[in-house]
Amino acid sequence: MTNDVQSDVLVVHGDTPLRGEVRVRGAKNLVSKAMVAALLGDGPSRLHDVPRIRDVEIVRGLLELHGVRVSDGVEPSELVLDPTNVERANVDEINVHAGSSRIPILFCGPLLHRIGHAFIPDLGGCHIGDRPIDFHLQALREFGAQVDKTPQGLDITAPNGLHGTKFDLPFPSVGATEQVLLTAVLAQGVTELQNAAVEPEIIDLVCVLQKMGAIIRVHTDRVIEIEGVSRLTGYAHRPIPDRIEAASWGAAALATGGDVFVRGAHQADMMTFLNVFRSIGGKLDIEDGPDGGIRFWHPGDELRAVALETDVHPGFMTDWQQPMVVALTQAQGLSIVHETVYERRLGYTEALNQMGATIQTYRECLGGTPCRFGRRNFRHSAVIAGPSKLHAADLVIPDLRAGFSHLIAALAAEGTSTVYGVNLINRGYEDFEAKLAALGAHAEPPRP
Ligand code: EPZ
Repeated sequence: MTNDVQSDVLVVHGDTPLRGEVRVRGAKNLVSKAMVAALLGDGPSRLHDVPRIRDVEIVRGLLELHGVRVSDGVEPSELVLDPTNVERANVDEINVHAGSSRIPILFCGPLLHRIGHAFIPDLGGCHIGDRPIDFHLQALREFGAQVDKTPQGLDITAPNGLHGTKFDLPFPSVGATEQVLLTAVLAQGVTELQNAAVEPEIIDLVCVLQKMGAIIRVHTDRVIEIEGVSRLTGYAHRPIPDRIEAASWGAAALATGGDVFVRGAHQADMMTFLNVFRSIGGKLDIEDGPDGGIRFWHPGDELRAVALETDVHPGFMTDWQQPMVVALTQAQGLSIVHETVYERRLGYTEALNQMGATIQTYRECLGGTPCRFGRRNFRHSAVIAGPSKLHAADLVIPDLRAGFSHLIAALAAEGTSTVYGVNLINRGYEDFEAKLAALGAHAEPPRP
């Protein structure tokens, strides 16, 4: 076994309640977008509290290919992004990043504004559904962009510049809303986006753009109105904390019968998660203040089954679903989970069943309002019968969030599991192996 392969495998000793403290940094799903926004400024931007994760490295690499100078700031975890000399990148070099992330699609608007041309490689990201980009391309065309599909990727130009438009999203997509924001801020005239996503990460991106000089009005009914301006400056920004990572550690505390203080976790962005956590029987304690956080713990009593449905904000996040399902395998009774954001985000439950869980997936929309995946042959609802004694298994990590859940399950299980593909977890969880160790977990690479 080579070192590379070895570092992608962890031997996890189960029956370990996680106890202690971890810190979460800036939200992955804001940080990567704020880095792209820096392209729009006519001077350097400073981004604080940037986590050391693979997605940040990928975006940094792509920015550098386009002439952005990225350096470390004075504070630890601070990045300085200087877009003064933005230029066209070599297609072959961009293509090295093909398949590694979804973020390149968000370079379109900023690059069109700065250099009149964008090349977008084949996209990557987690395989949790079809993940098309039709909303993105439709919106770009409405702004006046010309999109040509080439064998290598998408070649995008704007022969007559970009102008404001009125656009109604078929679904409140996070990425497509960001696409519209990043394009409209420097487009000529006013843009009105209907059925926009309003996730806290989107509002934080609006804050970043406002600091740069943009004029953006967020109305109460998913309508965002953007008044194009002629220039934007750099920004200095401290991102909202990562509410997906915070919830993952909370669910891990519950699933393993532990007690974890997540420093940095922010109540207002996690209200829906906290309600479900409490309904199941988990205990939590919220500490306010700049260095506050949330303590999540298992009180020792029996956990209760719940019915939950994932949804766009302010609903229960799809990215909270997988770690929470591991905790639900330990709850008394039948829990129902209806996944309404991605059509294929329950595949990981097969591995949990191999470990002794009893989870049945269904094509029907169970327990909630019918969603767009009903009667379309997608197993997007699950019934979880608990509590189940989990036992060790060999696990292969399928995607980022499911991967973290596999790890939690291995920690909760009896015996020693081998988990393959753990490098995927580095895409979104900073120092996760060190954090696991700090919480008392015994997880190490296999002996050579
Ligand atoms: C973002 O993905 C996040 N990724 C995802 O987190 C998150 O799960 C998702 O938003 C929902 O909150 C990043 O921010 C990098 P969407 P995004 O566009 O923007 C459909 C993680 O683990 N759709 O809101 O790609 C799509 O197929 C990741 O951190 C179209 O049909 O998600 C999906 O069913 C995983 N056409 C739904 O909309 C389009 O053009 C929501 O996707 C775009 C989207």
